[in-house]
Amino acid sequence: MYKSAGRLVHLDGELVPYEEAKVHILTPAVKYGASVFEGICGYATRDGGGVNIFRLREHLIRLQQSMHILRYDRTYSLEELTEVVLDTVRANDVRTDSHIRLQAHVLGEGLMGACGPVGLSCTVSPRESRAIEDRTKRAQVTSWRRIDDASMPPRVKAAANYHNGRLGTVQARADGYDEPIFLTQAGKVSESGGACLFILRDGVPITPSVTQGILESVTRDTMLRIFAEVLERRAAEREIDRTELYIADEAFLCGSAYEVSPVVNVDGMDVGAGGIGEITRAVWDTYEAVVRGATNVDPAWLTPVFDD
Ligand SMILES: Cc1ncc(COP(=O)(O)O)c(C=O)c1O
Repeated sequence: MYKSAGRLVHLDGELVPYEEAKVHILTPAVKYGASVFEGICGYATRDGGGVNIFRLREHLIRLQQSMHILRYDRTYSLEELTEVVLDTVRANDVRTDSHIRLQAHVLGEGLMGACGPVGLSCTVSPRESRAIEDRTKRAQVTSWRRIDDASMPPRVKAAANYHNGRLGTVQARADGYDEPIFLTQAGKVSESGGACLFILRDGVPITPSVTQGILESVTRDTMLRIFAEVLERRAAEREIDRTELYIADEAFLCGSAYEVSPVVNVDGMDVGAGGIGEITRAVWDTYEAVVRGATNVDPAWLTPVFDD
């Protein structure tokens, strides 16, 4: 994705060429993984007239929360962060769908307790839209357990947390699957390495609650709103047992990057009929219409990038 990143990177208040956007190997960001970030999506409108960033405010609030929990000694206002994101997309003139990475990291040469100086970077990469058929996943319930709030809080979107995601992902790929599904320390279903999970049982959408070792996902919240306000289905947020994955009628992963990715098989067992479920397809159709400005659930969800 990053090879195609826009030519200009927003780095500590300046737009610099891609090749110059570097941090030193002795920064706490590199040495201890002292880095938090957001992955945010820009979408071309369906009528082709513009580009909107989807749920920018919620992503920025989560970045602020991540910095706060990790006691960063500099925070940024929502206005400052909004401007950095918009400037980056505008400077690169990205008028297609895109993936934006906004990252706040600890610079300098400090040791373990360093909370600053804080650096901020933003990149934008154009991305192609993909049909839901191209995003189906065969999942493995991984033997690696999900990190926990008591030791490595998944609520913080820290780069270091993705070590856990990688362990499950590389195991799943080595074993012939696409994605891991992690269980919590208590053995309940949590999420994948980079997306939240919904299952459907008898027409009821069910997703692990926010205390089940998940990132408090913006897309998960969007799904809850779409189910309640468009599809007239009340979703349950509760513990999910591993065996419920095997008897679910449908399952899907959701996240800014994953959008809606149907899980068609878990541990070699088909989910439902083993294809894309009817409700999964309906939720994707609605999501796609919402992010492209064709269906309105909440007008505050779309931030226009260009004036013309
Ligand atoms: C571990 C994890 N869970 C869930 C998500 C989905 O979060 P969001 O919908 O806010 O993108 C992500 C997204 O990056 C993630 O990394």
